Amino acid sequence: MNTNSSNSLLSVPCGALRISELTPDPKNENNIMLLSVVIPTYKERDNIENVVNILSGLLDQTIPGNYELIVVDDDSPDRTWEVAENLISDYPQLRVMRRQEERGLSSAVIRGWQAARGSILGVIDGDLQHPPEVLTQLWQKIEQGADLAVASRHVEGGGVSSWSVIRRFLSRGAQVLGLVILPEVVGRVSDPMSGYFMVRRKAIANTTLNPIGYKILLEVIGRGQIREIGEAGYIFRERTEGESKVTWKQYVDYIQHLIRLRLSTGRIGKISQKVNFPVGRFLRFGAVGLSGVFVDLTIFHLMRTVINLGLTRSTILSAEIAILNNFLWNDLWTFGDISRKQRGKRQCFKRFLKFNIVCLAGIIIQTLVVNFLFNNLGMNQYIAKLIAIAVATIWNFWVNLKLSWRVTEVK
Ligand code: GDD
Ligand code: MN
Repeated sequence: MNTNSSNSLLSVPCGALRISELTPDPKNENNIMLLSVVIPTYKERDNIENVVNILSGLLDQTIPGNYELIVVDDDSPDRTWEVAENLISDYPQLRVMRRQEERGLSSAVIRGWQAARGSILGVIDGDLQHPPEVLTQLWQKIEQGADLAVASRHVEGGGVSSWSVIRRFLSRGAQVLGLVILPEVVGRVSDPMSGYFMVRRKAIANTTLNPIGYKILLEVIGRGQIREIGEAGYIFRERTEGESKVTWKQYVDYIQHLIRLRLSTGRIGKISQKVNFPVGRFLRFGAVGLSGVFVDLTIFHLMRTVINLGLTRSTILSAEIAILNNFLWNDLWTFGDISRKQRGKRQCFKRFLKFNIVCLAGIIIQTLVVNFLFNNLGMNQYIAKLIAIAVATIWNFWVNLKLSWRVTEVK
């Protein structure tokens, strides 16, 4: 789908975030080259020419004619994409993509790689905070056989220029957290937060990447087939033009990304793939369920003591409020990826009704199980109740997954 009016812009790939292998086209030798460097941009109109100019100068010396620069701009209001597009006549190795539907740094990088023709794929920030000269060192690492070459602030020759103590602390804190949650990924490089690296296409081809937020490198190491890694030190420069887009949200995204990778790779990932069970979703559903118990008891207590409502009414009302609580969290978080595709008020209300019915059936199932275990098998009533809760939770999860938050795949 190409929504761009101008035809010198690259069309935006759609579908899964998956990079294909390169297939040489005998009719068109230009469809393969050595290196593709993606420059993600958002509001970088005052930087982009400089970046393109310096990178072209460097690569014209190292691998003349055998590289491409791909600017992927998310429809910046300052029209960075247009500025970049106007540079193409002066820089023939430059290509520009303007994304109007999707947003976000990581997916921008992957969309750029999908359009790339290089057997090595790279990424560099578009604000000159990543010193362009380091690109040649990264290239050397790849030539020496590395599958991944990462520019790092934490090896010889690396550092940050004038970061405050707080920023350094947050950055290192994020790294430590990563080491705890995902040691086999985060521990492989000295600067897992780096957004400046090169990777062999074949190391990440045919794997669906599923990043959240800024840290695409985690995704590449976590899901790719990376054997050898090379690093080159760099000093993270201060910005002279434009401003950083980092907000507190990036920290939340980062933690969510770590957890997602933890659940989908390694041992847990293998189990969940084998049994084809969405472990991550189920854990989120369980967490929401626990919050519901808390809401239920609190409201019940308030109704009994403050409003002096009858036992039955209090029970029903507090249960319904808990169901509403659970629904909202599940809709936003557990099944957020699905409900975001179906935003309409009516669709949301439908999901809520279905959720209610499923939960009601869950209560009936719980009652039946508890009765059977206690009366027929003579089990301790609390153990019976726990087992019944487990059975009802699995029922609730599974049926809601299939019924309430269905991926209807409407185009
Ligand atoms: N297409 C697109 N879409 N580009 C984006 C978006 C987006 O949503 N958000 C940011 N960018 C671009 C910026 O224009 C810039 O070129 C680059 O991505 C990095 O964004 P900054 O906002 O400048 O980030 P930073 O300098 O704070 O963050 C950097 O942190 C790491 C070191 O801690 C990251 O960008 C990493 O690359 C870097 O190594
Ligand atoms: Mn920056």
